[in-house]
Amino acid sequence: MTEKQDTITLLAIESSCDDTAAAVIRNCKILANIVSSQEIHKEYGGVIPELAGRAHQQHILPVVKKALKEAGIEAKDLDGIAYTQGPGLMGSLLVGGHFTKGMCMALNIPSIGVNHLQAHVAAHYLNESMPNFPFLCLLVSGGHTQIIKVKAPLDMEIIGSTIDDAAGEAFDKTAKMLGLPYPGGPLIDQYAELGNPLAYQFPIARIEGYGYSFSGLKTSLLYFLQKGVKEDPDFIAKNLNDICASMRYTIVKTLLDKFEKAVKEADVKEIGIAGGVSANKLLRKEFEKLAAKNGWKAFIPKFEYCTDNAAMIAVVGHYKFLAGESTPLSALPFAR
Ligand code: KG4
Ligand code: ZN
Repeated sequence: MTEKQDTITLLAIESSCDDTAAAVIRNCKILANIVSSQEIHKEYGGVIPELAGRAHQQHILPVVKKALKEAGIEAKDLDGIAYTQGPGLMGSLLVGGHFTKGMCMALNIPSIGVNHLQAHVAAHYLNESMPNFPFLCLLVSGGHTQIIKVKAPLDMEIIGSTIDDAAGEAFDKTAKMLGLPYPGGPLIDQYAELGNPLAYQFPIARIEGYGYSFSGLKTSLLYFLQKGVKEDPDFIAKNLNDICASMRYTIVKTLLDKFEKAVKEADVKEIGIAGGVSANKLLRKEFEKLAAKNGWKAFIPKFEYCTDNAAMIAVVGHYKFLAGESTPLSALPFAR
């Protein structure tokens, strides 16, 4: 890294799960943000790790080329490459990690390993108006549900976590039980808009502290559906909108009741939400309402920065590069 430079241009690569993504960032401004989502998993009702790794291999070069082209940048203009080091599927992470290593070796520039969850939170720094520190962030993705205290751009403390399923998993498993394709979250959201959220009552897990649990909800839905289908084989089709609306209502209420308690106890006035599930319409609406009710300021990243993308990896890369942090090429390409 040069002593002091006017321009910092980084490429960022995200390949932790089933999206192959690349972004280019210059001085903390996103110049390109390309995401290639793998359709192959739809028919299986979930991500198949082996297929995901193979698809990343096919997509990574075209995605990176497209990002550089769209940004009007040549590889030789890059000062470093940020990449997702974990958490994620090992085969998927290996593709992004090795690709980064190879490019960094060829260009003689540093690689910067980034934590995927930290990046979801850092998506806030790409908004025109970003929260002041400290703020509390509700991170809701397909694999994680956490309450995080953000003290500085890269100084984050996890104060609560799910003890079993993540919120995204709760949506995806609901969809699977209803016979909907993966990923089910966006579909449940769509059907829920047309249904009655109070049509059916599902349980809200009461977990101590700032923890969450969604596995009981899943089991309760299973028994509810079994009973309904026994009485009427068309039960799901006839009541799809109401079931989706009631499940969505329960998941959102579970998330926000606990988050409200955490924010009050942390005594902060600014709150954020991050991760794929933050694309959920009801969650976004209720999150804003919660802030208004308590006099807090609410921040939600732009829609394209909520689900998996490389722009969020790029912004963490930018802050790490500024701090002189890099990951030795001898390091494992995935976090243990
Ligand atoms: O953050 P993300 O893209 O990937 C992970 O890091 O896991 O989150 C993906 C999750 C999936 O479970 C997907 O169903 C969920 O986000 N999701 C939604 C919505 N859009 C995506 N869940 C509920 N409502 C949505 N609109
Ligand atoms: Zn994610």
